[in-house]
Amino acid sequence: MAPTAQHLHIILRALLLLLLVCFHSIGASAKRNSTTAAPCLPDQASSLLQLKRSFVRANLSSWRAGGEDCCHWEGVACDTASGRVVSLNLGVDLDIRRIGPALLNLTSLKRLSLGTTGISEGLSSLSKLPSLTSLELHGSSSGRDHPELSSVGNIKRLTSLRLETYDFSRTSLPSWIGGLKGLVHLRMHGCSFTGPLPYQIGHLASLTLLELENCNYTGQPIPSWIGSLARLIQLRIQGCGSSAGSIPSTIGNLTRLQVIQLGHSNLVGKIPKSMFDLPALQVLCLNNSRLSGHLEDIPSPVSSPLTTIELGNNQLTGHIPKSILQLKHLEHLNLESNRLSDSIKLSSFWRLKSLHFLSLSNNKLSIIPEQEGDNISNSLPNIHYLYLASCNLTKFPSSLRYLDKVFVLDLSSNQIDDVVPSWVWENWKDQLQSLNLSRNMLTTLDKSPSLVHMSRLDVLDLSFNRLQGTIPIPVNAMPRKVLDYSNNNFSSIVPNFGRYIRSFYLNLSNNKLNGHIPSSICNASHLNIMDLSYNNFSGSIPPCLIARGKLAMLKLKENQISGTLPENIRKDCKFQTLDLNGNKIQGRLPRSLLNCQELSVLDVGNNQFIGSFPSWLGILPNLRVLVLRSNQLNGTITNIKTDSHIVNHFSSLQILCLSSNKFSRSLPKGWFNTFKAMMENINEDGRVLGYYTNTTHGFYQDTVTITLKGSDLIFTKILTTFKAIDFSNNSFDGPIPESIGSLVSLHGINISSNNFMGQIPSSLSNLSQMESLDLSQNRLSGEIPQELTSLTSLAWLNLSHNNLFGKIPLGNQFLSFPNSSYEGNMGLCGSPLSKQCESTDSIAPSASAHHEPNNLWLDRLDAILLFAFVGLGFGVGFSLSIFFTILPHKRMGRKHW
Ligand SMILES: *[C@@H]1O[C@H](CO)[C@@H](O)[C@H](O)[C@H]1NC(C)=O
Ligand SMILES: *[C@@H]1O[C@H](CO)[C@@H](O)[C@H](O)[C@H]1NC(C)=O
Ligand SMILES: *[C@@H]1O[C@H](CO)[C@@H](O)[C@H](O)[C@H]1NC(C)=O
Ligand SMILES: *[C@@H]1O[C@H](CO)[C@@H](O)[C@H](O)[C@H]1NC(C)=O
Ligand SMILES: *[C@@H]1O[C@H](CO)[C@@H](O)[C@H](O)[C@H]1NC(C)=O
Ligand SMILES: *[C@@H]1O[C@H](CO)[C@@H](O)[C@H](O)[C@H]1NC(C)=O
Ligand SMILES: *[C@@H]1O[C@H](CO)[C@@H](O)[C@H](O)[C@H]1NC(C)=O
Ligand SMILES: *[C@@H]1O[C@H](CO)[C@@H](O)[C@H](O)[C@H]1NC(C)=O
Ligand SMILES: *[C@@H]1O[C@H](CO)[C@@H](O)[C@H](O)[C@H]1NC(C)=O
Repeated sequence: MAPTAQHLHIILRALLLLLLVCFHSIGASAKRNSTTAAPCLPDQASSLLQLKRSFVRANLSSWRAGGEDCCHWEGVACDTASGRVVSLNLGVDLDIRRIGPALLNLTSLKRLSLGTTGISEGLSSLSKLPSLTSLELHGSSSGRDHPELSSVGNIKRLTSLRLETYDFSRTSLPSWIGGLKGLVHLRMHGCSFTGPLPYQIGHLASLTLLELENCNYTGQPIPSWIGSLARLIQLRIQGCGSSAGSIPSTIGNLTRLQVIQLGHSNLVGKIPKSMFDLPALQVLCLNNSRLSGHLEDIPSPVSSPLTTIELGNNQLTGHIPKSILQLKHLEHLNLESNRLSDSIKLSSFWRLKSLHFLSLSNNKLSIIPEQEGDNISNSLPNIHYLYLASCNLTKFPSSLRYLDKVFVLDLSSNQIDDVVPSWVWENWKDQLQSLNLSRNMLTTLDKSPSLVHMSRLDVLDLSFNRLQGTIPIPVNAMPRKVLDYSNNNFSSIVPNFGRYIRSFYLNLSNNKLNGHIPSSICNASHLNIMDLSYNNFSGSIPPCLIARGKLAMLKLKENQISGTLPENIRKDCKFQTLDLNGNKIQGRLPRSLLNCQELSVLDVGNNQFIGSFPSWLGILPNLRVLVLRSNQLNGTITNIKTDSHIVNHFSSLQILCLSSNKFSRSLPKGWFNTFKAMMENINEDGRVLGYYTNTTHGFYQDTVTITLKGSDLIFTKILTTFKAIDFSNNSFDGPIPESIGSLVSLHGINISSNNFMGQIPSSLSNLSQMESLDLSQNRLSGEIPQELTSLTSLAWLNLSHNNLFGKIPLGNQFLSFPNSSYEGNMGLCGSPLSKQCESTDSIAPSASAHHEPNNLWLDRLDAILLFAFVGLGFGVGFSLSIFFTILPHKRMGRKHW
């Protein structure tokens, strides 16, 4: 999302507030200018106190006799000349119940703001207040009809009405609103009702402001009667309406309109041409809808006072109209994320001398940058925000060098194969806040200093380029948000860089960094997420990184890190994700990991850990993913206390991977009964595991690799609803516990290459979501339970190399598995094997049952295969749970599918 003028606005407001506070304290210390504010009149104070007594429960602790001047009481504002109460704010958090008649003594009251939830008495008296013209009412979202509000329709002198969070969802919008003929301002926020916006509003002939935000009503967002509100100056209908609708062309009748904001609604169709002819229009915001049509059809008179055009995130096509480039007053132009296709010179926008915000990102545009040596006009606009992502740029536009007020620059996803010019760091060192050059073909940083002084830089994203050499570290005193250098060829970083890292997020993954991880990283006290994966770091982990446990996410995947983990992880450990997969770490897992109560993903796979199964981790309440694969863990798995009933042991676990260790003996009988999360079958989509960062990077996902469907699958998105266990390649023996049948929400089971004996538990047929079942290379015997044919989600089955015998079940998915699912079982017979069964009591399934699911499954399997190779997600089944890619080193045979 693009930072906008709103930022500036917030800063300005903060400054103003500061100024006010300063003035206030100056005023307090200096002698009071007695003529500026008359004190509260005594009758006003006593009326307020009387009113308070009627409220039954409201707190209002500053309202007390003998206290402060009543004009300074909570929620009270007076006329400074007369000392009479003119405004009362009885906020939403007060529990009022009853409004006493004392309110009527406040005869000068003009503005009243009231939370009406719980009020049963007194609302009708409002119409007797002689001066009341402005009313703001806050409701509750508990779908009631709010009959108590009907008396508001009697306050005929109201000029301003604001309704907040009323749920009239069982009725239409009360018609009394249409009777308030004097209304000049009508605002509704977060209200809902059935039916369309009532046409009676169209009869409020004095309205100059109509504002509806996030209102839920049936019907089109913008009614066509809007064209009859001839005095309208500001029209704001955002995030409203439930069905799609177009913008009525009658809007072109509203010749006084200065502001139109109709964004975030379900608007379709073309933008009416008449809108651009509105002679007074200054602000036009139609972003985040589904508007279509050719943009160049739009006429914009050169004389138009338009300052803001915001059309981002629609489906507009065509060229950028030349007429837009002649709007003299234009300050803000946002056309991002449409389908515009054009080839246009960047310099043509520089004619807009007032422009300070320009976004053309994510269209099909080719922006032609000025060339070195082009005559660049010396009067460029004061651009503060410039977004040119995906604009087919091949060079840094040379005019940028002369824009000296840039706060935010986004040139990501272009084909810039330049060097990063050094003037970026020099010209903008005092104002640049965000620089995104990711996903280009940048090779070098010109005269790259390893420390760059940027006093305001908050976000620096250089990821997905070909940058080499030393990582440039911005130096400033303020905490920053994001430093992303991932997916480059950087080979070094200044050893003391940790001293300068004030960011929340640091990503150095996929580079060529080597040597020890500098212990200066311990100085980076704001750091929350750190990813150093896929480098060549060696040596041991600086103890502080783990022991202090300050990070929420630490990823050191695929380095050459050795040594052991520190024993003394602190009590206030914050880890949610600890990913050390693919290193050479030795020793035992420290028990002090239990101090990380938030731990959700622990991946220590592919290391050299020793010891027994860490069942003590079972008490971590949020542990969802535990990967121990390919270590040297051994011993038997036991329940921690076999004699007592274990509650909440691994109760959140959804992925458990123990494969390729030296675990042996049998699994405890009731062990699986403790995995609560795998036993729940909640019918929901789930959320993606990861960490929400309050940065432009949004959400940082967890990833995990497990072996399912005969391949190592990298899950780049782990949905909380995806559940799997992988115990393969150990020395487990004994029977597969029947309790496995209680893990009803499992999607995948891999227990191949062990010494499991006995029969295949028929309880497996309870696992109705199971898509992948691998029991191969064990010593399982007996028949394949016929019940397994009820597993209609099963897409992949491997029972090969066991001692199974008897007839292969027929029906549903079992009609689609290949020979290889069964090979190496001397006793098996029947389709798809060529070996016929001797008994003839089997009944051939009916033709339709035989072919339909079969074809359906083949189609679906093709889809799965396709997606596996392009590395995206696929449409059904698994797709609800995961997105994955296949590791390149394992080849998949088509026959497995
Ligand atoms: C009080 O302030 C007003 C302007 O706000 C000024 O005209 C007047 O002279 C001031 N009076 C005193 C006593 O300072
Ligand atoms: C408010 O008005 C009523 C009569 O209208 C009067 O009885 C009461 O004393 C008044 N209260 C105050 C505090 O003036
Ligand atoms: C009333 O409000 C005051 C100040 O806001 C607060 O300190 C006090 O705890 C409140 N009392 C009750 C009963 O809510
Ligand atoms: C709108 O209201 C309908 C009916 O009350 C409800 O089903 C729907 O979820 C609401 N939509 C939003 C976005 O609140
Ligand atoms: C409003 O505009 C439409 C055309 O867009 C026109 O037919 C109609 O007469 C206009 N109504 C008024 C009241 O001006
Ligand atoms: C839509 O435009 C308005 C006005 O510029 C802006 O406040 C809002 O953030 C925009 N919405 C999005 C999603 O960019
Ligand atoms: C991108 O720009 C190159 C010239 O730099 C041009 O040949 C190519 O057609 C452009 N691509 C698109 C999609 O416009
Ligand atoms: C991000 O949010 C976290 C809390 O959720 C806060 O501690 C941190 O300071 C924030 N960081 C920035 C850069 O705003
Ligand atoms: C587990 O492995 C360790 C060596 O790492 C060995 O000393 C120990 O005897 C093994 N325990 C079992 C039960 O095999």
